[in-house]
Amino acid sequence: MSSPRKLTPAEEARLAQVRENFQERRRVTESLEGIGTRIGVYSGKGGVGKTTVATNLAVTLAAQNKDVALFDCDIDCPNVTRVLRISKGPVQNGEKLVPPERFGVKVMSMAFFQDNEDEAIVWRGPMIHNAINQFLNSTEWGNPDYMIVDLPPGTSDAPLTVMQTLDLDGFVIVTTPHELAVLDAKRSINMIKKMNLKVLGIVENMSGGVFGTGGGQALAEEMELPFLGVLTMSADYMNSQKPASLESDSVAAEFATISEGLSAQINIGKSID
Ligand SMILES: Nc1ncnc2c1ncn2[C@@H]1O[C@H](COP(=O)(O)OP(=O)(O)OP(=O)(O)O)[C@@H](O)[C@H]1O
Ligand SMILES: [Mg+2]
Repeated sequence: MSSPRKLTPAEEARLAQVRENFQERRRVTESLEGIGTRIGVYSGKGGVGKTTVATNLAVTLAAQNKDVALFDCDIDCPNVTRVLRISKGPVQNGEKLVPPERFGVKVMSMAFFQDNEDEAIVWRGPMIHNAINQFLNSTEWGNPDYMIVDLPPGTSDAPLTVMQTLDLDGFVIVTTPHELAVLDAKRSINMIKKMNLKVLGIVENMSGGVFGTGGGQALAEEMELPFLGVLTMSADYMNSQKPASLESDSVAAEFATISEGLSAQINIGKSID
């Protein structure tokens, strides 16, 4: 039998890269092991209320005595800390970072590592991938029942990278009733389906007033997806020191309906698996 041929430097480098990728994947899988259901809140369109839905959903679940983590993966424009009015960042514990807790939710965000809130962070896919991996590996999440992930808008490499890296269990799609938002939501759903990932349901935000109502429900019917509920356009979301669902009974009731629908979908998914 002939002895194996010596690898060329290029082949050695390639092999080292494959090994590194494999180890990194294993580290991420290990960090995600203790985390229950991972839910991405997403829409292709900007400004439709992803961060609002992600934060209010997280505090709603925490108020139901669930252990909840909120991971702000809008690396370019992290807004979760602003919405939750968090002033303290994570605390170092050996090699790990312990995320701050606010309204019963453990929060991690790129914003904690920005010197200046107005600063623009312009990162490409591989850097986002590395940042997310590093967050995952270095954060002491504990064993949350849910991890809610606030995604950046668009269908470019930023949200795609987050989706692929985090291996999310499913998505909540946010749309307004407006026809253009609905069209973008449809694109987002098709993108998620293309990646063989799951849409848990659709939320219609900013319902009523100038935008009208019903676009989210119609989209859910057309795409044969669960409709989780509406969030009315409301001044309760303005100038608040707290997420609106903790201040307003009507907003709290809307989020209770959405979280119930979401839990039902997650349970259906579990019974099928
Ligand atoms: N139902 C609502 N009624 C009134 N204002 C709302 C409602 N939902 C969200 N808003 C407001 O709309 C603005 C945009 O919401 P938000 O930041 O959650 O959107 P987003 O989809 O996360 O945006 P981006 O794409 O930039 O990440 C915020 O000022 C928020 O307070
Ligand atoms: Mg946002």
